[in-house]
Amino acid sequence: MTLFSESIPNSPIARVAAFPMRAADVVRYDARVLTQSVRWLVRSREHTNYTFDLTSLNLEHLAWWVADAASVPVDGIREYIAEAANDARLREHVRVATLASSRRHLADGEVRLHKRLGWYALVRALRPAHVVETGTDKGLGSVVLAAALLRNGFGRLTTMDVNRQAGYLIQHDYAAVTTRIVGDSLRAIADLSDPVDFFLHDSLHTREHELAEYEAAAPLLSEKAIVLSDNAHATDALPSWAEATGRRFSYFQERPVGHWYPGGGIGLAQSSRP
Ligand SMILES: C[S@@+](CC[C@H](N)C(=O)[O-])C[C@H]1O[C@@H](n2cnc3c(N)ncnc32)[C@H](O)[C@@H]1O
Repeated sequence: MTLFSESIPNSPIARVAAFPMRAADVVRYDARVLTQSVRWLVRSREHTNYTFDLTSLNLEHLAWWVADAASVPVDGIREYIAEAANDARLREHVRVATLASSRRHLADGEVRLHKRLGWYALVRALRPAHVVETGTDKGLGSVVLAAALLRNGFGRLTTMDVNRQAGYLIQHDYAAVTTRIVGDSLRAIADLSDPVDFFLHDSLHTREHELAEYEAAAPLLSEKAIVLSDNAHATDALPSWAEATGRRFSYFQERPVGHWYPGGGIGLAQSSRP
């Protein structure tokens, strides 16, 4: 090791000499991903829109990112994240409704909220009157957003999906603060009339569709509205739109615990600081 660290790095054979060490690092990493993949294939039922927990360090980074976006102290954001993570009623509702649904064969009973904890904390901190979510799917994001609105004591969620079977988790008081729309998001946004304080793109994840949603929503956005993307790890649609409209952009990257999927992220555009 001493020989390697002192003389070999400067010699012409350095690359060859380092190969076994480098290969061992790659094999260790790939073996871990392969083990996680096989375990997930056997244990999980999910085929899309994967759910997982975030590492504790990643949750701490999420708290600081939300605190900066909302311009509030981080300790309050940690409390909001814990509030959602420990919401026994929400977890039990999602578990029971999932097991009772016709799609239970492709959904896991265990409730894992990952980036939705960030959505929840943002709604709690910013207290929007109108939240719009494009792409409802099972309704997991919808009930998390609705739970935050219920804790705030005011505000409504509008969620939209082309699939008429989407949204089976939206029941009970979560449904009382939620308007569900079945149809293409671009048409549904064009039909909205109330100002929007919190807009979340999570529908068709192409750059064109994502950008078209921001352009359709723009006239409805209130002065301090925030615009989130669930696709910002895959396209530059939100940073491009943010720059073109004079907003600032930031991004949070998920780090899953024990999952082969490397995680997505949350893109956020908001008005520039004065
Ligand atoms: C990633 S899932 C949404 C996940 C959900 N927001 C959550 O937090 O669990 C994407 C959803 O977008 C819907 N979708 C796809 N194209 C759409 C479109 N053009 N308009 C509205 N919804 C669309 C799909 O049917 C699918 O249910």
